[in-house]
Amino acid sequence: MKRKTIVDQFFLRLYIVLPTVYPFYDTGELSLLKEKKFQNWAYWHYAYLLCVVLFGAYVRATGAGAGCGSHWPLCDGQVIPRTFFHERLIEYSHRVSSGLSLFFTCAMYIYSLKIFPKFHLARKMAKYCLIFIIIEALLGGALVLLNHVADNPSLYRGVSISLHLINTFLLMASATGLIFFSTVENSNFSLFRHKYFLLFFFGFVCLLFSSTSGAITALGDTLFPVASVSEAFMKSFDFKHHLWVTVRIYHPFLAIFSSIYIFLSVRKVSQVSQCFKQAICFVYFCLFFQLSLGFLNVFFHAPVVLQILHLFLAHFLWAGYVLVYLNSHLYLSSLSSFSFGKSVVR
Ligand code: HEM
Repeated sequence: MKRKTIVDQFFLRLYIVLPTVYPFYDTGELSLLKEKKFQNWAYWHYAYLLCVVLFGAYVRATGAGAGCGSHWPLCDGQVIPRTFFHERLIEYSHRVSSGLSLFFTCAMYIYSLKIFPKFHLARKMAKYCLIFIIIEALLGGALVLLNHVADNPSLYRGVSISLHLINTFLLMASATGLIFFSTVENSNFSLFRHKYFLLFFFGFVCLLFSSTSGAITALGDTLFPVASVSEAFMKSFDFKHHLWVTVRIYHPFLAIFSSIYIFLSVRKVSQVSQCFKQAICFVYFCLFFQLSLGFLNVFFHAPVVLQILHLFLAHFLWAGYVLVYLNSHLYLSSLSSFSFGKSVVR
């Protein structure tokens, strides 16, 4: 009984933080119990993946990426290394936790096959999660084997970090979609045939672009720390410095541009219906705090805690934007379905 209360409270909190995942309709009894149970697991799945992603940023920020040497998937050539030091403990824990996320995602995929009928979008999302987590593991392995870790400042490291970030965002979008579609009846609509597809597509590209530039900035901050904002600013215009030092300045501008675009695109769909107001408010909230955290990062020279918080909010903003897209999509497709006398939502 006590356990149930703790678990319920946990989900209640998650619902408060990510309140937008429910379809905007009053779903009555919500859905069948087994789907509700699946959705709870999908929440855990999202939360676990997010922890692993943030832990990955911690590994980068502390320079512990080479803690297992250039071995992958083994750590220093062993399943459990005989000796542990600070960096190895961090890197090894990251490997174990990301290995477990692969099993968790496999389990979610098999579970989705059991619960949902063929062609159901929840099944599709679980499949995408599996594909992206496998790519994620391969990219992580490539980072280690190519020695794109610790204090390696090579240009190729920037490329692999960017690919890694884009894949992580796609993985998290699928995990968000998995939660969302687990209470939606098989609706047979194409995810891409949306009235505002181009509007959102550009928004997603903007977010990916500004986040990638953020990851490059974070790399620059880790490898070439500065003592003051003015030093960072001056070095950005001095092209004798490393590329990661000179490109640092662009991230805030790209992020501000993206934020304005995200704000305008979300405002546009908010005029279509007030049904998914929660999702829209959530995006506004994330935008405001993300921008504020960005400025704090600059003024406090990006301490590890702020870096992690900034990445955390980038993921929530991304999830919120995905949910506005899915909610508006569901709303618009249900309008056409209703005209044939059929609702797409339980
Ligand atoms: C929509 C708004 C924004 C998004 C989506 C965003 C996203 C990101 C991401 C994903 C990172 C990489 C985090 C990591 O890998 O550890 C990052 C880093 C960074 N961002 Fe932003 N950012 C935004 C706004 C801003 C603004 C407005 C500023 C400055 C005024 C800023 C300053 C920084 C700095 C200094 C870093 C490097 C340190 C760190 O890792 O936190 N960001 N950003």
